Amino acid sequence: FDIDWDASAATLGGYADFMEKEISEQPEAIERLLKGRLGEKGILLDELRMSEKDLAAVDRIFIIACGTSYHVGLIARTLIQTWAHVPVVCEYASEFNYEQDVLITGHTLCLIITQSGETADTLTAARRMKGMGCKVFAVTNVLGSSAARESDGVLYVQAGPEVCVCSTKAYTAQMVACALFALRLAQANGHMDAAEVSGHYADLATLPDLIRTVLSRAWQDKQAATVFRRAHSALFLGRGVNSTTAYEGALKLKEISYLHAEAYPAGEMKHGPIALLEPGFPVVAIVPEDRVHDKTVSNIQEVIARGATCVAVATDGDESVASLCEHVLWIPPVEDELLVPIVAVVHLQVLARYVARSRGCDVDKPRNLAKSVTVE
Ligand code: AGP
Repeated sequence: FDIDWDASAATLGGYADFMEKEISEQPEAIERLLKGRLGEKGILLDELRMSEKDLAAVDRIFIIACGTSYHVGLIARTLIQTWAHVPVVCEYASEFNYEQDVLITGHTLCLIITQSGETADTLTAARRMKGMGCKVFAVTNVLGSSAARESDGVLYVQAGPEVCVCSTKAYTAQMVACALFALRLAQANGHMDAAEVSGHYADLATLPDLIRTVLSRAWQDKQAATVFRRAHSALFLGRGVNSTTAYEGALKLKEISYLHAEAYPAGEMKHGPIALLEPGFPVVAIVPEDRVHDKTVSNIQEVIARGATCVAVATDGDESVASLCEHVLWIPPVEDELLVPIVAVVHLQVLARYVARSRGCDVDKPRNLAKSVTVE
């Protein structure tokens, strides 16, 4: 797999900022990652460096990461548990490192997710797991990084250099990498046959074009950003896998626009955050067509009933959402609802960038933040 980049990959090349460039590069990054990954017997992931027998025996997985990569881990947890039926614990590295008891089995695998491969907390966690006898597998974007060098196996997401401090293309590529890992595991432990695996791979292969569609709409749509013009705070809501999309959307917004944003699973709103709602308060709801759609629509009704303003991410043609919300960011239908986060988040990346630029912020170099956090 080709992972060498020339210097032009790290130049602006006509874009206004690296964030715009990197958001735009997502379809090609995913195409690169998926290329050559499906063979006759299923997913090819030799980078795991584990025998079929050892892979089949994996009975617990610890996913450890920070920030946006931790959000990837939350999605990976669902994909692994749903597709491979292996129980997963997903932890912030900075929390995991100070936990007293780590309950591992003789067949526990540790998966670290880190764009830079240099995040100190994540590296410490990986060393701790290794010290306990676990195999460590890294999903990273940086060739030869500490995470890559210190792990037993490494999958490079090949997103190309990510210069903007806020992670965008690495986020979606890392989710796709974890989907490949989940399928490889399901194939090894017998939870999926070759036909099922290739069906899921075919769904993954639709992602680049789905993202292209979202991008063509999102870049044209500056309207949603105006909702935040006078805001001091915002609430992001989603359910199931898209509670993670809400977390990531809120992190993007606060990281580059300095606007306070909080994310909650939509069903938790009634346990506290609903008190924040007042006329004009901006709420972003991720409400695609999926098994929890109607439940999230009722949360939007609660939001609207209190005079708050809702911007939704919804599936094309969803009148139940359009009739309630101030503004809708449309996504095309996605065959497998577990993959919606990889498509829906693109709207939230573009939205965060438009809000930040309208507030005069430097989207590539937000204050107080570094691209890799090399201190614990
Ligand atoms: C993402 O937008 C952030 N800049 C930050 O949360 C980042 O994801 C985190 O520091 C982890 O970085 P890593 O993936 O390089 O380990």
